[in-house]
Amino acid sequence: MPPSINWCIRWAVCLSCILALIPKIRGSTLNCHKMCICASNIVSCSKMNLTMIPSDLPNYTAVLDISFNEITGLRAQWTKHKLPNLHNLLLSHNGLSFISSEAFIFVKQLRYLDLSSNVLRQLDEFIFEPLIHLEVLLLYNNHISQIDRTAFLGLGSLQKLYLSQNLVSRFPLELVKDKNRLDKLSLLDLSSNRIKVLPIQDLQALPAYIKNGLYFHNNTLICDCELYSLMAHWNIRRLNSALDFKDDHTCVHPGPDKRVLRLYELNIHMNCSTFKETDREAYLEQTLILDCDTRHREMSKTWMLPGNVVVSPGNNLSAVVLPDGDLELKTIRPEDSGVYTCFAVSEYLNETLYVVVKVHNFTLNGNGDTLNTAYTTLVGCLASVVLVLIYLYLTPCRCFCCPDKSKNHHEDSIHSSMLSVTPTHEDMATKAELNRHVAFIDPKDLQGQNGKVNPNGDEEVDEEAMQGKGKRKKSVADSISSVFSDTPIVV
Ligand SMILES: *[C@@H]1O[C@H](CO)[C@@H](O)[C@H](O)[C@H]1NC(C)=O
Ligand SMILES: *[C@@H]1O[C@H](CO)[C@@H](O)[C@H](O)[C@H]1NC(C)=O
Ligand SMILES: *[C@@H]1O[C@H](CO)[C@@H](O)[C@H](O)[C@H]1NC(C)=O
Ligand SMILES: *[C@@H]1O[C@H](CO)[C@@H](O)[C@H](O)[C@H]1NC(C)=O
Ligand SMILES: *[C@@H]1O[C@H](CO)[C@@H](O)[C@H](O)[C@H]1NC(C)=O
Ligand SMILES: *[C@@H]1O[C@H](CO)[C@@H](O)[C@H](O)[C@H]1NC(C)=O
Ligand SMILES: *[C@@H]1O[C@H](CO)[C@@H](O)[C@H](O)[C@H]1NC(C)=O
Repeated sequence: MPPSINWCIRWAVCLSCILALIPKIRGSTLNCHKMCICASNIVSCSKMNLTMIPSDLPNYTAVLDISFNEITGLRAQWTKHKLPNLHNLLLSHNGLSFISSEAFIFVKQLRYLDLSSNVLRQLDEFIFEPLIHLEVLLLYNNHISQIDRTAFLGLGSLQKLYLSQNLVSRFPLELVKDKNRLDKLSLLDLSSNRIKVLPIQDLQALPAYIKNGLYFHNNTLICDCELYSLMAHWNIRRLNSALDFKDDHTCVHPGPDKRVLRLYELNIHMNCSTFKETDREAYLEQTLILDCDTRHREMSKTWMLPGNVVVSPGNNLSAVVLPDGDLELKTIRPEDSGVYTCFAVSEYLNETLYVVVKVHNFTLNGNGDTLNTAYTTLVGCLASVVLVLIYLYLTPCRCFCCPDKSKNHHEDSIHSSMLSVTPTHEDMATKAELNRHVAFIDPKDLQGQNGKVNPNGDEEVDEEAMQGKGKRKKSVADSISSVFSDTPIVV
């Protein structure tokens, strides 16, 4: 008898356990009557106090709305199987603070992802990488302060990225510049963040269709006249990012009182000069390419030359419209100076752009090259003179007096002469290399150095500095191995 009573008690305990668990289980499997509304391929479970995304979602689900719930993390296993048709995932207003690096591997067809109004603090490396079809990503109103340089890598279809109302302090230039940029991006909203400094030169070099959708108002930018010029230019070009939030374009005066000024009034407050568009200058017989820098991406473009001559493929002109809409002017002459007009037409927008061209009546004798050659020749000459002097005046010393000391003197004099030649270079790496090679001063060797350094040595350094974290590791390893290049390292 006692054993059967025991059994009963155990069963009762188990049953109550299971009963206690039921609400939680109900919260995690899809219930299309109480918990969610299912309309063919739409599953909407908004405002249901859910702490987990329902499992067992039908694999035909195309839209999944889990907004206004209590989901705090997006784990790797939130869906157990692929959802090959899911293109909209709405997770706003949830208190999300964590996203697994594998959260999106089963939903690769997503085109619209809403993670806005959560409490995300950082975006880790490669977090969105599987989402190659994603077009819109909403991340506004989170607490994001750190964005890994590779966070948005792989989002090759992304058109709109909303990052406003976060705590971002670094302008994520890698999204719009260089080889890893998001090719299709036409809207990047960084407004209401903590950005103090913009990479103004880089921004100005971007095509107008990116600048048109580059929102950065209501940050904590530090006022300066360069910033004023940028805004004035964007305003003249009637770019949306400048016009739409005119009153919210403010900056903080660098002075002690930290006054907040309106960007458009900086010319009054800080005595900035008025912005003027620069003309395109060219030299005799050069080939010049004029860019029709439109505010929208896909527009059909036609060009008109200064004498109101329309450029068309049939007519016999030295000006040709290239496939991308740019105008190429071959062997340009002073008579080609004037105002070139580009008419750009699309379904939504008609734009007319003017480019003023000024052609000088003399050729450009490969300015950089001549300088380079002259410099190399000069260095070569100096080196030869030094060697000759050494030979003439110091060689006898080796025969008569203390040979070792004099040898040291030679090298010192070579060193100092070399160093007096090189300080014009900014590039530290080259300096180091020159120092390394200082033992054998061969004019040819120097020429090689110059050729490498002069044209774009600075750019190379910049690019390396810009590279992402993943690559940074590699470049650090590279630089280490180059530092110890004399001693082979086996890793
Ligand atoms: C969600 O929780 C709130 C407060 O706890 C409650 O008032 C509300 O009725 C709940 N909603 C649902 C759908 O259970
Ligand atoms: C959809 O899910 C069912 C089971 O729920 C499965 O049998 C079927 O193969 C799935 N279809 C696809 C295309 O994955
Ligand atoms: C500007 O940004 C701050 C936070 O950085 C926010 O509190 C404020 O509402 C924003 N103002 C506007 C007009 O967007
Ligand atoms: C502004 O610049 C002009 C000329 O550059 C100068 O004469 C004037 O004193 C400056 N004003 C202020 C307030 O700096
Ligand atoms: C095109 O122009 C060049 C000189 O500008 C002329 O020599 C040539 O005959 C022209 N060709 C045609 C087809 O008009
Ligand atoms: C652009 O101009 C063409 C004619 O030049 C006109 O037919 C079209 O409606 C215009 N489009 C817009 C958006 O203004
Ligand atoms: C360019 O210079 C040449 C002589 O150097 C002169 O004959 C010619 O008129 C000049 N052309 C223009 C457009 O100034």
